Amino acid sequence: MSAALLQTLRERLGAAAVLTEGDLSAYEVDWRKRSRGKALAVVRPGNTEEVAAVVRACAQAGVTLVPQGGNTGLVIGSIPNPQGEQVVLSLQRLNRVRAIDRENLTLTVEAGCVLQQVQAAASEAGLFFPLSLGSEGSCTIGGNLATNAGGTQVLRFGNARDLCLGLEVVTANGDIWHGLSGLRKDNTGYDLRHLMIGSEGTLGVITAATLKLFPQPAATLTAWAAVPSVAAAVQLLGLAHQHLGPGLTGFEMMGRYALSLVDHHYPQLRVPLWQDHAFCVLLENADTESEAHARARFEHLLEVALESGCVADAVVAENLSQAHNFWHIRESITMAQADEGPNIKHDISVPVSAMVAFVAEAEAALQAAVPGIRLVNFGHLGDGNLHFNVQGPASMAPMAFIDAHEAQVNTIVYERVRAHGGSISAEHGVGSMKAGMLPQFKDPTALALMRQVKQALDPKGILNPGRVVG
Ligand code: FAD
Ligand code: MLT
Ligand code: ZN
Repeated sequence: MSAALLQTLRERLGAAAVLTEGDLSAYEVDWRKRSRGKALAVVRPGNTEEVAAVVRACAQAGVTLVPQGGNTGLVIGSIPNPQGEQVVLSLQRLNRVRAIDRENLTLTVEAGCVLQQVQAAASEAGLFFPLSLGSEGSCTIGGNLATNAGGTQVLRFGNARDLCLGLEVVTANGDIWHGLSGLRKDNTGYDLRHLMIGSEGTLGVITAATLKLFPQPAATLTAWAAVPSVAAAVQLLGLAHQHLGPGLTGFEMMGRYALSLVDHHYPQLRVPLWQDHAFCVLLENADTESEAHARARFEHLLEVALESGCVADAVVAENLSQAHNFWHIRESITMAQADEGPNIKHDISVPVSAMVAFVAEAEAALQAAVPGIRLVNFGHLGDGNLHFNVQGPASMAPMAFIDAHEAQVNTIVYERVRAHGGSISAEHGVGSMKAGMLPQFKDPTALALMRQVKQALDPKGILNPGRVVG
């Protein structure tokens, strides 16, 4: 059966687009290198009709598919299982910018466009596409929509979902839904776009999207502020909302231990202010005011924050290159912790008003359970989203700690998340890493409805089985 399928795929796409030999690890191993799969084949169609042909052929053969973009996902959702029975459907060759409409402020791109390419296409047109993630040099817009990615601009512009107006999707039986549209208003029934966004390749294969664009900001100001506690960071966030209004585009908090890893692995980045303070905050203000006007407001905010004691020290970036360096430090935490060795990763959200209590309770409970654990705590505090990662005590080998304590640590963290009305996956998705936890943490009626949706849209279970709803 699988030999016949491979033959059909080669005939339809050409042999060069159907990979079965050589080093396929880029498609088979997850970004964190925690999980390794084995593909029956990696298939690389070049256009939407070819994607539809692949899905039809696989459905007919009863072979399941794993859609894949840049394979930067962090929840094990984009690699095949180890049995060598699944086809990886790579969207990377669908990488054309199809259209830009400056008056309508929209951009239509294919799913395999790398996020940086999308940002560049907007910028070349004198406009701005705000989605921004540390992985933007390799993640794809299709993957961003399939995971409803967050990143560092959510505070002002929302998640990937909020930036998408239309989609083109190949359904589980190989039909093409031509839903590309630049309309900002369209109430003609159920919004299938929102069903597909965040469905992690389990309901359809995104092949193209129409995205919202924005005017480029006239002035962007960036500051690095040292704060004594999470409570102080939350207080600073309140002041930033009050003084900057919609100009506040980014508010990232980074714990001392997380920054020490960057300092240790990338000393050339010269992390400011980290040694003497429990947390640092990276704030960004971007709007249409003149630079002088915006800077005066930004500096006034920091003066108020210093006077109130919630900020202990602060540096405003003098120029673009210093601002880039601040962001580079923030985005390097993920790599620095990977260099340090594996840890137990969490991507949680709670209401900002519950953040202080959540962190205090979870940290105390973790220290009581495993004395000496180290928190790699950082993230998008402005969105109530932390990467509350737990590294073992210095005396324990990383994998020994994970093997012995992962379940216990997850229970401690996720029970506190639940107690504060939060989510066990704020922005990375469910994948197969958290699929088993949904029955415990998701409302049972919601989960039952999700399973009915999956059954209705993919009755044969062809698309990314084992992910999200299991
Ligand atoms: P993949 O990893 O290839 O796939 C992810 C999921 O989407 C899989 O379930 C896959 O089956 C599905 N999928 C992919 N393409 C399609 C498609 N065209 N149609 C249907 N399904 C598809 N995430 C954040 O939200 N915020 C961050 O700040 C952030 N920072 C990161 C920083 C680093 C250094 C790294 C490594 C990751 C980061 N991520 C972040 C996680 C990751 O980059 C995002 O989840 C991203 O959206 C995944 O895009 P991708 O193209 O790599 O998708
Ligand atoms: C980030 O905010 O840097 C990402 O979501 C990646 C991570 O959690 O490591
Ligand atoms: Zn993040």
